[in-house]
Amino acid sequence: MNASSDRLSRWTPVMFACALINLCLGLLLAVSGLAWPAASAGAPATLAMVHLLAIGWLTLMMFGALFQFAPVITGRRLRSQALALVTLIGVQAGLALMVGGFGALGRAAWADRLLPAGGTVVTAALLVGSATLLVPLIARRPVPLSARFVMVGLGFLLLTVVLGVTLALALTIPATVPLLAPLLAGGLSSHMLAGLGGWFTLTAIGVSYELLPMFMLAPHERGVVGIAILWSGGAGFLAAYAAGLASAVAAAGWIAAVGQAGELAILFAVALYLGDVVRLYRGRRRRQIELHNRAAIGAFVALGLAVLLAAGAAAAGRLAELAPSLLVLLLLGWLSGLGLTQLYKIVAFLAWLSRYGGRLGRGPVPRVQDLVNERGAAVLFVLYFAAVALAAGAAAFGLADAVRAALALALVAVLLLAREYARAWRATYAQRAAAAGPRSLVPSPLVRQGDR
Ligand code: HEM
Repeated sequence: MNASSDRLSRWTPVMFACALINLCLGLLLAVSGLAWPAASAGAPATLAMVHLLAIGWLTLMMFGALFQFAPVITGRRLRSQALALVTLIGVQAGLALMVGGFGALGRAAWADRLLPAGGTVVTAALLVGSATLLVPLIARRPVPLSARFVMVGLGFLLLTVVLGVTLALALTIPATVPLLAPLLAGGLSSHMLAGLGGWFTLTAIGVSYELLPMFMLAPHERGVVGIAILWSGGAGFLAAYAAGLASAVAAAGWIAAVGQAGELAILFAVALYLGDVVRLYRGRRRRQIELHNRAAIGAFVALGLAVLLAAGAAAAGRLAELAPSLLVLLLLGWLSGLGLTQLYKIVAFLAWLSRYGGRLGRGPVPRVQDLVNERGAAVLFVLYFAAVALAAGAAAFGLADAVRAALALALVAVLLLAREYARAWRATYAQRAAAAGPRSLVPSPLVRQGDR
């Protein structure tokens, strides 16, 4: 094995491919009319769709990225690539059982067991993956800011999946209902908050604090602002999570006050983060912003809009009514948008590493940028974010058919983007360009960091 293939997380490309398939299946459930918006938010097919997106797409994609970047952030290798494969197989297999379990809800007792069984397999696989990541993350001293976000995010992932399995037990095994019934009332909001906020959003912030400065040549050091976002976000999500659970068993005024204080802390953290992202873009030394970071602005806008919508809807007492719109902005605009845009760079970088990294210094090789066609892909990102904006808008007015049409457009954009990732992976554009003459050696900033 040469030094550069050593730096490649072996199962990350496969994880990305599985994650993209899960995203397409999730969108297909919505577009086909089986799940929301044609069915209700709590319908089994909707729950299957939400978990295909949450676990199959976002969680798997984040683990794929983290298996690659935890060694870059910390300068320490993962103990074992095989554990990444165990994580992948466990998550995919557990998710398949969960999707089957949601589909079978209420049909037969044995089929009902699929849901908690699948959730348990997913939880075990994610524990293996988290432990694999935590070893290098904890070992680095001082712990970098991005690593701290990831560690807090992994803690919330654990809270999310354990509560998910508990909800699944309460839904499917009648003997557990007397004990777990209160959770069915109050646990769902905590489950969603820990997953979408604590896990996805805090981890995405951490990863963005590594990737944005790296590719825009901006300062990594985020100072007191970065620390404030971590504490305020972490504490805010934890307070809101705990208050959600506690309110299921007691209706004390102080519990509601803790929940509201948590929500304010979350708003503060997100506002501070978005301000810091603007500071980061402005403070960059690279004048030309590459497509993945230009397109990521769509994801940041979606996050800002989601926070404004959540605050406005809560103040007007219309949160439940606008929740679908909010979920579209968060799941598809902010999280999936950031994921799709960053994948555009990460896949090209991994392809470069596996194909040309070993040839560095031994003759001309293409640049990472030669593996992509930014002009073509820019149109696809515009299409994707426009489709998500249309879906969120139509959801706010309860226009189910318009939401489905918009999500169909988003699906087309994802499929065409997946083709671009595949072209980058196969170096299609670079091979075409090779005919034009030898290129200079320009290693990616990630390679230089990974060499530390
Ligand atoms: C990253 C991990 C996860 C995230 C982000 C997540 C997110 C969500 C969301 C957003 C909902 C609300 C869906 C809706 O109302 O339409 C939900 C519901 C649910 N989730 Fe998860 N989930 C995760 C993992 C799990 C796991 C591992 C299980 C275990 C089986 C699980 C079980 C459930 C159940 C049973 C419900 C429905 C609860 C009810 O309606 O009372 N989730 N989840």
